[in-house]
Amino acid sequence: MILIIDFGSQYNQLIARRIREHRVYCQIEPPRISLEEIRAIAPEGIVLSGGPASIYGPKSPKADTGIFELGIPVLGICYGMHYMVNALGGKVWQAQKREYGLAELCVKHDTGIFEGIKEKTKCWMSHGDAIERQPKGFRIIGSTANTKGAAVENLKKGFYGLQFHPEVSHTPKGKKMLSNFLFRICGCKKTWTMRSFINGSVRKIRSVVGDKKVILGLSGGVDSSVTALLLHRAIGEQLTCIFIDNGLLRQGEAADVKKVFKKHLKVNLRFVSAKKRFLSGLKGVVDPEKKRKIIGHTFIEAFEREAQRIKGVTLLGQGTLYPDIIESRSAFGGPSAVIKSHHNVGGLPKRMKLKLIEPLKHLFKDEARRLGKELGLPKNLIWRQPFPGPGLAIRIIGDVTQARLSVLRKADAILFEEIVARNLDKKLWQSFAVLLPLKSVGIMGDQRTYEDTVAIRAVTSTDAMTADWARLPHSLLGSISNRIINEVRGVNRVVYDISSKPPSTIEWE
Ligand code: XMP
Repeated sequence: MILIIDFGSQYNQLIARRIREHRVYCQIEPPRISLEEIRAIAPEGIVLSGGPASIYGPKSPKADTGIFELGIPVLGICYGMHYMVNALGGKVWQAQKREYGLAELCVKHDTGIFEGIKEKTKCWMSHGDAIERQPKGFRIIGSTANTKGAAVENLKKGFYGLQFHPEVSHTPKGKKMLSNFLFRICGCKKTWTMRSFINGSVRKIRSVVGDKKVILGLSGGVDSSVTALLLHRAIGEQLTCIFIDNGLLRQGEAADVKKVFKKHLKVNLRFVSAKKRFLSGLKGVVDPEKKRKIIGHTFIEAFEREAQRIKGVTLLGQGTLYPDIIESRSAFGGPSAVIKSHHNVGGLPKRMKLKLIEPLKHLFKDEARRLGKELGLPKNLIWRQPFPGPGLAIRIIGDVTQARLSVLRKADAILFEEIVARNLDKKLWQSFAVLLPLKSVGIMGDQRTYEDTVAIRAVTSTDAMTADWARLPHSLLGSISNRIINEVRGVNRVVYDISSKPPSTIEWE
């Protein structure tokens, strides 16, 4: 395994994913990790990440310099290289010319990390500091026009420093460099597979759980579904999943989850129909934040009530993923302003005096999906687009009623059918319908109509932090519009949302 020390770079998660793509397990830890902890996890090598600080600045993050005495290879990237150079007696100072974007790297010695890489290759730079003097035992192995020490090595010790970012796709040979570091320099083996992850996790879960009972809130989304299956594989009947049907789900969704988990996967599932409670709580509420709060509270109440019926529960399973963990303890990130309060169950374990068990907490989303496949989760659940906890309530602008839910569900199902028919569902981050509180005049047959408007939202994104409206083919928009207006009673107009995030958000509320 490889240890990545996190100095706060925006590319940290990318480094981890690149390493795991090579089937080598890695873990990201903050700089304060102690030498004893590092010895305990026994990495084959260490990667020091980039970061926004300057090594000579007052608040520059530092790790224990004992890492250089462990006898294992170290790769410093950008700030990580500055930290290493500085710690080993070299000097880093403001570069004469800052360097951002693509640069041409001249490889001077194609050994070690550059083995098999020809003289010139592109690399991605983003820095204002540079090496002024390298530490003893180091030599320069690559330069760019502006940066003499773009790559340095201490061959004997297996220490490497790269000023540029090998983890980004703009550095075409970055993958090769990382693979050289992992396999030639650190001697790692390709052992990180989902099957090995399952075996290890099952053992760990069994030892943590013992003969106790675990409950889990199943939403039908990828994270909770995969967590359910992994826990089920490890502890079988000791796991009870609770599915709260809030009446705000898409067409056929609740029945689908029930069928898949109960019938096919034989998971112990309690299906709670709480539609009425949610709808009566939402009656007359139009403010988006109020809707979210009401749904959050009602969910917790319903979940707690059901959980109390199961005797002897001490653990709560949760589908937390690695990015949630990394982001919540980031060296520089702070809590950002609340734009929308997320429906989450963070308060649950404390209220119910339960201990958390989070078996996916070291996995990225794509790995969770691969794990789901390995555990037999059907494709349509693995590849589901994200769906917000408050469900259709935040896609009905204005009052949420049974009748309006039914209109939106039909429109949304048609939209999705058309998107799937064109094979676009996996290419889009999300695609859904929104019901507007807006009636307009139309004509159907010879009759004047005065009916509702449906908006279509389809976006592309990689992480939902930013999103662009999808350039759907006009013919597809045409067939979605035709079908919705013809097949859904009460709708006579369809519009397409062409706003990006920011400044708009993906969901309308
Ligand atoms: P926005 O609307 O903020 O949404 O651009 C970003 C992403 O988050 C999803 N979303 C939620 N997911 N609970 C969730 O689990 C929520 O309350 C919630 N609100 C928004 C949204 O669908 C999009 O993918």
